[in-house]
Formats: sequence, C-alpha cells, structure tokens
Amino acid sequence: MPHIPVLAAAALEALAIRPSGTYVDATFGAGGHSALILEQLDAAGRLVALDADPSAGAFAPADPRFTLVHANFRTLAEQLDALGIAAVDGVLFDLGVSSMQFDEGERGFSFRVAAPLDMRLDPTSGESAATFLATRDEREIADAIYGYGEERASRRIARAIVALREAGTPVRDTLDLAGVVARSVQRGTPRGAIHPATRTFQALRIAVNDELGALHAGLDAALARTVSGGRIAAISFHSLEDRIVKHTFREDPRVRTLTRKPVVAADDEVAANPRARSAKLRVAERVAESQ
Ligand SMILES: C[S@@+](CC[C@H](N)C(=O)[O-])C[C@H]1O[C@@H](n2cnc3c(N)ncnc32)[C@H](O)[C@@H]1O
Repeated sequence: MPHIPVLAAAALEALAIRPSGTYVDATFGAGGHSALILEQLDAAGRLVALDADPSAGAFAPADPRFTLVHANFRTLAEQLDALGIAAVDGVLFDLGVSSMQFDEGERGFSFRVAAPLDMRLDPTSGESAATFLATRDEREIADAIYGYGEERASRRIARAIVALREAGTPVRDTLDLAGVVARSVQRGTPRGAIHPATRTFQALRIAVNDELGALHAGLDAALARTVSGGRIAAISFHSLEDRIVKHTFREDPRVRTLTRKPVVAADDEVAANPRARSAKLRVAERVAESQ
C-alpha cells in the first residue's frame, strides 16, 4: 500500500507557506507532504528534505527547488550549514515509520511478518534490535520496554528474553519476539485490544533509533533555524512523542504554540488511512528573540 500523507491539509495550512520561502520536510518518507509543499512554492522557493532511511531516495522528485539529504533530523542544523542555508521559513516533522517501512517485512518493524529483528530507520548505521536484546542486561531491556512502550509486563518480557539468550536460543526475529511477548503478558487480553506485542515493538524501535533524543534535538534545531513568524509543525503518533512536542511548543521561549489542543484526523481520513487514527498535529510560530 502506498504511503498516504497524514493530516495533509492541516499540516500544509499550519505551515502557512510563503511561496518564495525556504522550507524543511524533516521526515521525507515517500514525499507525500513534500509534494504538497512544492505545489505551494514558486520558482524562488526551496525545499530541503531529510530522511534517515536511504531508501527514501527512490521517491525524490526531480525538481530544481528540491534537495533530499540522507540524514537524521537530529543533525538538521549541520545539514543546513552544509547547504549554506542560515535560516528557514518553516519545518515539518511527520514522525515515526512510514507504512512502506512497516510493510516491508524485512525491516523488522512489524510482528505480522517473519523477519530479522532489525528496526533501524537507517540500516547503514547503529545497532539492530536483535543486537540490543543480545547485549543489554535484563534491567535495561525491561526499562526500555516499560519506558518507551508503557508495557506493564516489561519485567516478565525482559526475563523471558534473557532466559532464551542464556539457553543459547536468543530472540532474533520478529515472530520469536511476538511469541515471547504473547506468552509473557497477562492472559485474558480483552477482545478488540491491540496485539500484545504492539507496545514492545514500539519500545524497541524507539530505543534502537533513540527516537525521543532525536526529536528533542530536531525540534531544538528547527526552533533555532526558523525565522520570526515562521512555523514549526509536528505530527506525532504516540503519547511519548506528543508530550515532547507539546512541552517544547508550550515552554520554549522561542515559540508560541498555535494549537492548545492537537489537530486530529476526521473519521473519513481514519477510515481511508488507519495510520491517521493516532496522529496528532501541533503547530508553533517562531517569535522574535527579544519577546
Ligand atoms: C511517517 S513517515 C513520513 C511520511 C511523509 N511525510 C510522506 O508524506 O510520505 C516518517 C519518515 O521519517 C523518517 N524518520 C523518522 N525519524 C527520523 C529522524 N530522526 N531523522 C530523519 N528521518 C526520520 C522515517 O525513515 C520515515 O521515512
């Protein structure tokens, strides 16, 4: 299934595009939001897109106003420096993984497809989820599953993972991990509840990619580089991300929040694109340094 951009109209409205401005799409993905931004730019406008995943390059439009950089958005300031761009008019973050990364079984993001437990957004660097589970002590694994997945059975899951490792049969693939989690969580999960492995998979993905650290650093760079009056818009998909965006937009003196409550998808968008169900868009406007 192709990636459908989430909250596209609201995100575009949030950026309040100046046609000759310079914008950043910090999470290019399949380029859905980027294509819409380019539509609103004139010949003098410019769009710089980043993605940690080198396979995003396949979707880059051939457009002289557009540049795609294979980079983590935590390095946003360095990437702009390398392009000779001092300041931008707005930055969009559409966080997490794309539906294509999720559906590409071999990336290890989904517990529905058998694949090595990789889960790196950038498969060319860092360590995989399998390595994380093979090398961390039980407590660190439990803390990650609890802290990033809000999973109450985190200690039991970590104990089972370490027991398998010690027995010489470490958890190496997605279905192994889903099985360990299913056996470790309380029985009697209510019908219609999320799959028992959902929280653990989310937690490992966040840990392996340091997603919350990257979000703090990326927002900080976006706030530092956006001109006064420019917009920063962030679409998040779980409460840990949303909390960071909300607090940054409320508390950082460089911005004022324009969304007291997050924008969420209408029922028809959720019906057409299940990914939109948990999406929350928050928007902030950069204020002058002296304010
Ligand atoms: C939800 S998708 C974006 C989809 C895109 N807006 C579209 O319309 O096609 C998120 C993308 O952000 C990338 N990503 C996530 N965290 C990142 C980070 N810290 N730095 C750079 N890219 C990141 C992922 O690799 C993925 O391609």
